[in-house]
Amino acid sequence: MILVVGAAGNLGRDVVHELASRGIPVRAMYREFADKEEAPPPGVTLVEGDFRKLETLVRALDGVDAAFLVSKEMPGVIEREGAFIEAARRAGTRRIVKLARLFAAPDASSILHRLQWQIVEELRASGVPHTVVRPQAFMQNVLLDAPTIQATDVIYSAMGPARLAYMDRRDVAAVVATVLLEDGHTGEDYAVSGPALLDYAEITAQLAKAIGRPLTCIDVPVEAALQGMLGMGLPGWFAEAYTGIIQFAKEGPPQVLTTKFQDIVGRPPTSFAQFASEQRSAFMPLAAATS
Ligand SMILES: NC(=O)c1ccc[n+]([C@@H]2O[C@H](COP(=O)([O-])OP(=O)(O)OC[C@H]3O[C@@H](n4cnc5c(N)ncnc54)[C@H](OP(=O)(O)O)[C@@H]3O)[C@@H](O)[C@H]2O)c1
Repeated sequence: MILVVGAAGNLGRDVVHELASRGIPVRAMYREFADKEEAPPPGVTLVEGDFRKLETLVRALDGVDAAFLVSKEMPGVIEREGAFIEAARRAGTRRIVKLARLFAAPDASSILHRLQWQIVEELRASGVPHTVVRPQAFMQNVLLDAPTIQATDVIYSAMGPARLAYMDRRDVAAVVATVLLEDGHTGEDYAVSGPALLDYAEITAQLAKAIGRPLTCIDVPVEAALQGMLGMGLPGWFAEAYTGIIQFAKEGPPQVLTTKFQDIVGRPPTSFAQFASEQRSAFMPLAAATS
């Protein structure tokens, strides 16, 4: 049995669907069943589990061979994922696949990279056999810009010239599923990427081509992005953490392309042009969408 935590989240849901599409029995862990919006695919059973409630983790991990570990990067995440790792150790779970960030380091300028470094250290120290999968940026992030694009044909970005190795989140799920199922990945630490490094001007151009109308990319200062998030009512820690990610993308080590996706999954990763073409209805102008 494979356990997928964070099944109500974006990546967790994709991993559940990927495993189910391969006919693999999956136990999908939700903090609360109220979070579950749709009927599970065939072969998927649901279990309630909260990192803060040990008894729920014990139940969720009972009889599990391998588990996918992902959660929200928020205050307390080290203790929460640490509790899951300890529960898996006690349960004798034979494999954990952990989602982390490339360039996670104890002295990274971004707090999210420092948190991920700490959790991976705890996983290593636990002795539970594990594999780390490190994507750099998800293509689906651009869907957050869809309302602005629909209304104004403008993309505001604070990324400047930073070029990121954008990856379709469903491709990340495909790597995770394969590593959960196959032997031979224990102890590995995989940096995975899409097929190209892209900056926001290139993303804007490819998106414009896919949706068939011109778009403008306007570069904004990082401070404006921070104020924008705070203005939207997002918590201060979140706005600061994600501003730190933008700063890290601009000033940290350059992102890298790797062949790991193809090596592991056996097909080329999805290109941004393919992704944009598939998702173009999300960017239709409001008048067209409502008429
Ligand atoms: N976006 C990117 O470009 C990018 C790049 C690299 C890495 N990542 C990483 O990818 C990860 C996954 O992203 P995502 O979009 O799938 O995140 P997400 O949608 O926020 O999902 C996180 C999941 O963790 C669950 N969770 C939080 N606290 C929990 C608790 N106490 N007990 C049990 N479950 C708990 C959440 O449950 P609830 O739904 O109940 O809150 C949610 O289902 C994140 O850690 C992110 O940092 C993202």
